[in-house]
Amino acid sequence: MTTQTASATLFSELKSKIEHKQARVAVIGLGYVGLPLALLYTEQKFPVTGFDIDARKVSTLDQGGSYIFRIPATEIQAARAQGFSATADYSRLTAMDAIIVCVPTPLDEYREPDLSYITDTAKAIAPHLRAGHLVILESTTYPGTTEEVLIPILEKGNRQALKASRGGAASPQEFYVAFSPEREDPGNTSVARRDIPKVVGGLDAKASELAAALYGAIFNRIVRVSSPAAAEMTKLLENIYRCVNIALVNELKLLSLRMGLNIWEVIEAASTKPFGFQPFYPGPGLGGHCIPVDPYYLSWKAKEWDFNTRFIELAGEINTSMPYHVLESVAKALNRHRKALNGAKVLVLGLAYKKDIDDLRESPSLTIIELLQKEGAQVSYNDPYFPTVGKGRKYDLQMKCAPLENLGQYDCVLIVTDHSDYDYARIVQESQLVVDTRNATRGIESPKIVHC
Ligand SMILES: NC(=O)c1ccc[n+]([C@@H]2O[C@H](COP(=O)([O-])OP(=O)(O)OC[C@H]3O[C@@H](n4cnc5c(N)ncnc54)[C@H](O)[C@@H]3O)[C@@H](O)[C@H]2O)c1
Repeated sequence: MTTQTASATLFSELKSKIEHKQARVAVIGLGYVGLPLALLYTEQKFPVTGFDIDARKVSTLDQGGSYIFRIPATEIQAARAQGFSATADYSRLTAMDAIIVCVPTPLDEYREPDLSYITDTAKAIAPHLRAGHLVILESTTYPGTTEEVLIPILEKGNRQALKASRGGAASPQEFYVAFSPEREDPGNTSVARRDIPKVVGGLDAKASELAAALYGAIFNRIVRVSSPAAAEMTKLLENIYRCVNIALVNELKLLSLRMGLNIWEVIEAASTKPFGFQPFYPGPGLGGHCIPVDPYYLSWKAKEWDFNTRFIELAGEINTSMPYHVLESVAKALNRHRKALNGAKVLVLGLAYKKDIDDLRESPSLTIIELLQKEGAQVSYNDPYFPTVGKGRKYDLQMKCAPLENLGQYDCVLIVTDHSDYDYARIVQESQLVVDTRNATRGIESPKIVHC
């Protein structure tokens, strides 16, 4: 067989396996992104294996359990019946056809990109890489990561001198690489996962075609871009757009409060414009794994190009100041009741970074609780999604969820996350004072409510 034919065979064999749903799919990183993705492929009858270094996750899945609130254990059991299994054993990768990487991309203590999860994963994949593998990175990251970080590790660390296919002369020693960002909106059930268009950027035309075919099995629309870097930048543009617009409404909220205007009423009115306006809402600060983190991946990379991303810096400054604004608002509200924050009993409603989800990564509630405690407040919290809160990367709260009763005992009830399950009318009725950071009490008239 000539070199050309061998390479064509690698490509067409994988393409055909994908089209016949016989491609063995590996999903690395079974978190909020990877686990649902693995389940989507299993539902479509692909043979799927999940890989994770967290032994507890692997064993929970192996016992048919779930550790993500919105994924019921029955879904895991149904997937297992279809052949889905989880493992920490990377040697099983050789038997796979497509490898999708969904590991975390946080910031380090200096707010710089921490790519260690990606580099560790690449080092773990490399020895098991074989010709014809399709490797796709989904983790959000700066433009250039796939080509400058992931591929060099895969090429250097594999045992057969395999090279990523770059559109040049075909080789039987090639593997395929693409980047495809995840676009999940946790808690949002208005758009079916299948209907969220999937952006794909392959290193060359073959990689793009294979990745598009693989995602075409679970998404209705594939949007191809010219390179992995363009796909990486697309994700960052989406998240920076949100970050900057949220900062804008947060700033306008502060001004509106000073001017005695209700920013929520204003946003609602502006939203009636049928073109050119998209509503964003103010809040107690940014949370989640994406919006507070991803923009800094770009500002870090921009420095390499002697470029200052001023919008990102300004938005970051405003959004980071919001929990301090909440602290000040609670102190002022208590002051009007002739009470000091020091010693006051404060109940924080909602730990999750946004409503109706069980995710507290980067949640402003955690910062707010710490700030309140520093000022001497006696803080309790209630969140139906978190019976307890222990130690995280940046905090160590060691608290237990307080029951939502006897609310009159608190000097202030502070709404940080507007979970739908809360009965806000009852909360206002039973409380002495309610500070509302989310307009959760809209429609309820009471002098006890302070908007902030
Ligand atoms: N959560 C979201 O809503 C969301 C949305 C869009 C994009 N993203 C991006 O997707 C990526 C993953 O996010 P997530 O929310 O799923 O993170 P997560 O923390 O929920 O899950 C990541 C998983 O990867 C595992 N892991 C870490 N290192 C590993 C390794 N070397 N080998 C195998 N497994 C490993 C962890 O144990 C964990 O289970 C991030 O880059 C994030 O920015 C997340």
